Amino acid sequence: MKKKIALVTGGVGGIGSAICKRLAEDGHFVVANYGIPGTETKWLASMAAAGLHPGSTALAFGDVTKYEAMAEMVAKITAEHGPVDILVNCAGITRDTTFRKMTPEQWHAVIDTNLTSVFNVTRQVVDGMLERGWGRIVNISSVNGIRGQFGQTNYSAAKAGILGFTKALAQEVVKKGVTVNAVSPGYVATDMVMAIREDVRAQIVAQIPAGRLALPEEVADSVSFLASDKAAYITGANLSVNGGLHMYA
Ligand code: CAA
Repeated sequence: MKKKIALVTGGVGGIGSAICKRLAEDGHFVVANYGIPGTETKWLASMAAAGLHPGSTALAFGDVTKYEAMAEMVAKITAEHGPVDILVNCAGITRDTTFRKMTPEQWHAVIDTNLTSVFNVTRQVVDGMLERGWGRIVNISSVNGIRGQFGQTNYSAAKAGILGFTKALAQEVVKKGVTVNAVSPGYVATDMVMAIREDVRAQIVAQIPAGRLALPEEVADSVSFLASDKAAYITGANLSVNGGLHMYA
């Protein structure tokens, strides 16, 4: 069977790297997007250590906040490796601060990177998925997009926006074999979470029923499932991976 091509935006980050590894282990050809030169070095080493590079993975540089850059990047991936069958929108940043101190730059940086990126990249791949009659789009949202978080009006708004996007697009494409779902991690042991002030982080961890941060691999396993044939009838859904931090019906 022909290998499926998976594109993971923010693929060299903490959660993104674990997703790349898992999708490559699932037998897909994985392309990791990155937007900051130099950040790919650690990823290359970790893929090599996992025995996954270079036959089953590749890197693609490009700024997810720029529509034209994403059009060019996806065209290049398509020419070099084939059309994208699985898209994981994982690129994300934080600019945490209370709303009264938040600058327009901090607002736009997070909205552009975490939400507009989902439009910019998905728009490049959805037509091809529909034409081929098969596609998987998995958007990484967050527990904080569902419940809101003190200090994250920008991030919570972007992550909540991803959930709305997921449910709307899911309705438009499901008849042609394309599913669109979200995975909402809680607090995961990555550089992003370790950047939270230690005392604040300790208070957060104390509220998690599981009593610990998530492992990036635990998020990747959910993405792997939603990207598989087994999840063909799941669409517009949101899978929480938060150790019980936020439960809702
Ligand atoms: N609810 C209510 N009040 C709170 C609060 C909360 N959750 N957190 C802090 N406060 C209060 C404090 O008690 C304090 O009150 P007083 O002035 O009366 O003492 C006041 O707000 C100021 O608190 P800080 O000292 O924390 O304020 P700061 O300006 O130094 O820091 C902040 C603000 C940077 C937002 C800091 O609170 C913070 O880092 N919070 C955590 C934000 C967070 O969870 N980010 C997640 C990053 S990881 C991620 O985003 C991945 C993911 O998807 C989960």
